[in-house]
Amino acid sequence: MKKTIQIILLFLLLNLSHSLSISSHDTLSYQKVTVDPSLVFENPRLRNAYIALQAWKQAILSDPFNFTANWIGSNVCDYTGVFCSPALDNRIRTVAGIDLNHADVTGYLPEELGLLSDLALFHVNSNQFCGTVPRSVQPLKLFELDLSNNRFAGKFPTVILRLPSLKFLDFRFNEFEGTVSKELFNKDLDAIFINHNRFWFQLPDNFGDSPVSAIVLANNRFHGCIPSSIVETKNLNEIIFTNNGLNSCLPAGIGELKNVTVFDVSFNELVGALPDSVGEMVSVEQLNVAHNKLSGKIPASICHYNFFTGEARVCLGLPEFDDRRNCLPARPAQRSPGQCKSFLCGRSVSPRPIVTPLPPPSLPSPTPWPIFSPPPPSPVFSPPPPPPPPVYTPPSPPPVYSPPPPQPPPPPPVYSVSAKMTQQ
Ligand SMILES: *[C@@H]1O[C@H](CO)[C@@H](O)[C@H](O)[C@H]1NC(C)=O
Ligand SMILES: *[C@@H]1O[C@H](CO)[C@@H](O)[C@H](O)[C@H]1NC(C)=O
Repeated sequence: MKKTIQIILLFLLLNLSHSLSISSHDTLSYQKVTVDPSLVFENPRLRNAYIALQAWKQAILSDPFNFTANWIGSNVCDYTGVFCSPALDNRIRTVAGIDLNHADVTGYLPEELGLLSDLALFHVNSNQFCGTVPRSVQPLKLFELDLSNNRFAGKFPTVILRLPSLKFLDFRFNEFEGTVSKELFNKDLDAIFINHNRFWFQLPDNFGDSPVSAIVLANNRFHGCIPSSIVETKNLNEIIFTNNGLNSCLPAGIGELKNVTVFDVSFNELVGALPDSVGEMVSVEQLNVAHNKLSGKIPASICHYNFFTGEARVCLGLPEFDDRRNCLPARPAQRSPGQCKSFLCGRSVSPRPIVTPLPPPSLPSPTPWPIFSPPPPSPVFSPPPPPPPPVYTPPSPPPVYSPPPPQPPPPPPVYSVSAKMTQQ
């Protein structure tokens, strides 16, 4: 009996502290939504979610596929694109995920979304959302933020730096501009996809502190150096910097990147020689340094005894150029067709997830984990794409890129190893 009372007291205290935290939200004036007193809510968090979602619905100007048509009434867990699961702190049902991918919705994200205090996933890729990320999202327990392929604009939304649980950041194909916060590289992120925006920035020295395993900065206006600290990154697996204005040498210690499978710095203004150590990047499956101002000799460590399938015509004219033992058509002293075939096929049968999926517990996810769904069966950036294919496909069919990328899509890489790494 005494125990029951203790539990009830504890429950009351928890409730009290929770309602206190809600009242701090109330200081932001959420006046757009009035809650009909006849509505009955399972718990206060779902009531808050109702306010957030109704405010969002009001901020949606066009919804051609009727995603939000059933966003009516108190049962928010039944709304299309809204996923509930037990809260991590007290197990009451709460909104843990939003998935409005490919809804082609036009609108903006209202401040009220900050009321979704238990949200772990927020996926709105391939819509027409504009504006920016509301500052109120700060308290969210957000793990994945996918805003890709929308019309978000303005400065880098620094509010995301204050999301302590964020692992997966995807801003691809938007119109963000200006600099990127240096703190981004100190955050415990697994993936940073900010390609196809208008960021204008130099990579900071703390780049090497980032625990990120996949980083795609392609098609922005990054300039300056590739920081030498890049070789200190611990988990780096895929780096795509293509089509920026990077204009330094490649760091001499680049061979330290033993786990990197994709290294693409094509279409920049890199100078100097390709460091000898490049041959020590033992995991590399796709290396693209084309369309830079590199000079000197191509290190023998990568030119022969590899599985290259193509090379630039100009390379063939280089003195002492040695491309033996590759898979180059119409070149002497190549590997046997059988060897090349089994290498290229063999690579595709050892899939390896880019990021270990770490979903928040028991969330009925709209898309099956892992978040990095199977990429397209073609090599990254292979055919000249008008419009370019996404580097990683979002969970469902590839988006239609409404805003054309600011610069013309690059022609096919001239000097690249494409070993079908994409069959993850
Ligand atoms: C959406 O709802 C409207 C009105 O009910 C209907 O006319 C339209 O066909 C629906 N669109 C889709 C794609 O279901
Ligand atoms: C490469 O990955 C392995 C296994 O995950 C890890 O132990 C090692 O430290 C990594 N090495 C580098 C240089 O990142």
